[in-house]
Amino acid sequence: MGESGTGARNSLSIRDNRNGKEYELDILDGEVVRAMDLRQIRLDPDDFGMMAYDPAYTNTASTRSRITDIDGGRGILRYRGFPIEQLADRSSFLEVAYLILKGELPTEDELAGFTHEVTFHTYTHENILKLLDGFRYDAHTMGMMISSVAALSTFYPEAKQVHDPENRWIQIVRLVAKMPTLAAFCYRHHRGLPYVYPENQLAYSANFLNMLFRIGVTEYEPNPVLERALDILFILHADHEQNCSTTAMRVIGSSQTDPYSSLAGAMAALYGPLHGGANEAVLRMLTEIGSLENIPEFMESVKRGERRLMGFGHRVYKAYDPRASIIKQTAHEVFQVTGKNPLLDIALELEKIALNEDYFVARNLYPNVDFYSGLIYQAMGFPVEMFPVLFAVPRTVGWLAQWQEMLEDREQKIARPRQVYEGSGERDYVSMDARG
Ligand code: ACO
Repeated sequence: MGESGTGARNSLSIRDNRNGKEYELDILDGEVVRAMDLRQIRLDPDDFGMMAYDPAYTNTASTRSRITDIDGGRGILRYRGFPIEQLADRSSFLEVAYLILKGELPTEDELAGFTHEVTFHTYTHENILKLLDGFRYDAHTMGMMISSVAALSTFYPEAKQVHDPENRWIQIVRLVAKMPTLAAFCYRHHRGLPYVYPENQLAYSANFLNMLFRIGVTEYEPNPVLERALDILFILHADHEQNCSTTAMRVIGSSQTDPYSSLAGAMAALYGPLHGGANEAVLRMLTEIGSLENIPEFMESVKRGERRLMGFGHRVYKAYDPRASIIKQTAHEVFQVTGKNPLLDIALELEKIALNEDYFVARNLYPNVDFYSGLIYQAMGFPVEMFPVLFAVPRTVGWLAQWQEMLEDREQKIARPRQVYEGSGERDYVSMDARG
């Protein structure tokens, strides 16, 4: 056992009161014990041994990671050590993508090289458009996105070589480059508009806006405020350590699935209203509330536990989500260009009440990243069906960085949790005529 400076041991003593036996478990990094160390605790040699029971992994570290650091109690978020506020203020999305994927901020040449690589992989095979054409006119854009990302795996069968770093990098670049193209194609299909192909002379966010919103052959000039706002939103959504979708990416990737199939799985996890689908749910909620006078009744129904205040609360943040503060500021800048989103007043009033009422204060329910992002997206002209897609585009960077880290981590194996079986013991098959 290791010794700390005070002579105290870096270990945890456990006494099994069933038989009085004592065990000493190493404490690693000052705060964790290995769940496998519990296995030695058993009553007799035939026992399986003790396990940790942790539904929804609320207190289980599944990995060591060097990518994103969150201190939920203090509202801190850092990518590779850099505070999110500084990155949102001074960086660009592609620079942050490089940082997250490679571990360091790029030099000028490195950023130019990465930007070139991403820019020249934005096109997709034409058959992707045929696949999209097979969807109904009103298909949800996220369903189309998930399917088209999964389909990409069939175009790049070499992506299965997940242990080859060079091959991995090619797939990473392809995915970062093609996600905006796919997202824009899904949007255009949803709107019944002709597809607009990538324009490689445009920057990442400008190219995305062009593919989304250009009508006809006239040149589309993205408003620089909106272009920058989108870049900031992308920076804020780029990674968030071991959340539901990232865990899905790591779990699927742990069976050595190719990155396109794994990413489609991560996107499916993101789609749910408790995760990346929350900004869509926020907008629907604000629309349903409709006006300031309906807020008190709505809040009462939340407090009675009949519904949730969407865009509030977080598994990790027990303080104001730092991304929400930046987004709130960005929202005001966007509204100066687009005009104020009429739902903003309802949102601000909900926040004011929630920050002052016992029910929310006692449960640490602060606005999360999704509370204001939907208002910006709506003001920029996106339908709600695009909101989770707009989350998935930048989060692709985080999913890929985490996937790569998992593959390079010698401690990782195929993910496979245990269970506590509570079903019937052995019983004999009953023929149909003898069943009750
Ligand atoms: N509105 C009202 N009450 C809430 C909310 C909410 N949004 N969130 C949590 N609570 C209450 C719960 O009812 C519970 O109360 P209780 O102790 O009286 O039973 C208590 O707060 C703790 O809630 P949990 O569900 O245990 O918290 P958990 O950490 O599991 O959930 C989650 C986190 C899923 C984000 C939750 O807060 C939620 O559903 N929020 C709304 C959906 C949302 O905005 N999701 C986006 C999250 S950010 C992201 O994924 C990008």
